[in-house]
Amino acid sequence: MTEPTAVPAAGSVALITGGTGGFGRALAARLRDADVRVVLADLDSERARATATDLGAGFAVLDVTDHAANQRVVADVEAEFGRLDAVYLNAGIAGSGKVDALDVEEYLRVVAIDLHGVVYGADAARPALRRAGGGSIVVTASLAGLTPMPTDPAYSVAKAGAVAYVRSAAPVLAAEGITITTVCPGFADTAIIDPLRDAFTGAQFPVLTADEVAQAMVAAWTSGEPGAAYIVQAGVGVVRYQFKGVPSAKTSSGERALVPDALNPFPG
Ligand SMILES: NC(=O)c1ccc[n+]([C@@H]2O[C@H](COP(=O)([O-])OP(=O)(O)OC[C@H]3O[C@@H](n4cnc5c(N)ncnc54)[C@H](O)[C@@H]3O)[C@@H](O)[C@H]2O)c1
Repeated sequence: MTEPTAVPAAGSVALITGGTGGFGRALAARLRDADVRVVLADLDSERARATATDLGAGFAVLDVTDHAANQRVVADVEAEFGRLDAVYLNAGIAGSGKVDALDVEEYLRVVAIDLHGVVYGADAARPALRRAGGGSIVVTASLAGLTPMPTDPAYSVAKAGAVAYVRSAAPVLAAEGITITTVCPGFADTAIIDPLRDAFTGAQFPVLTADEVAQAMVAAWTSGEPGAAYIVQAGVGVVRYQFKGVPSAKTSSGERALVPDALNPFPG
């Protein structure tokens, strides 16, 4: 991100899934201050509706595991505001810590929200972003998607999958004028860390504020590069993650073997 202080164009339209949670609220406040029109999509509750009202944002009921519901929400936003410029695929849960770390039911629940919810959300937003002349998809993954948490395999798989999806889908979307990026925060002060909060406090372990993450989420929209993963870490700030890559195949004469163009339509 070359211009971390850039702000989105006033009047543009953003949709945030999991929008009434910690990061969603902090992000909505920043976008509102930049005169962006914001819709928070989340599971339905009085608290969620009141949160959106307090932030001057619209509210859409959405369970991100429902593909058709993602499409309906995007259609409603477009119908109301005439366009959609940025989508934050941010809804997520961690493993509960209440069952065995390898519990299969919990694994399926976490992956349905944290990974399939991202895929459904990107698919639903894509035509609307194209109609707006291009736009941005920012996926909230996690450091757990880059370095797995030994206590939470389901979360680690889902977030690593989300990072892989962003990297793999980026060239296809970039060709359509859509920039997809991911923000990978370390532990941050939201409800999701409630079960761990005492341990962090006891160990004086530094956690991010939601606003530090929201700032990186805004920058990912305005200045993110296709397929990039932006780490946000307490005391460090925002750092673009450098993926290591893998060794290339070698020909029988020891030359680097290039992947055929048919498998790599966007070389370079
Ligand atoms: N806080 C952290 O330490 C941290 C670190 C790295 C990544 N993250 C990720 O950031 C994102 C936002 O989390 P947060 O920290 O704001 O936590 P949060 O618990 O405050 O917010 C999560 C939001 O997602 C919503 N949600 C859950 N299931 C949903 C579903 N099926 N459909 C729609 N919405 C659903 C919740 O209602 C809630 O509003 C998540 O993807 C989380 O995994 C959080």
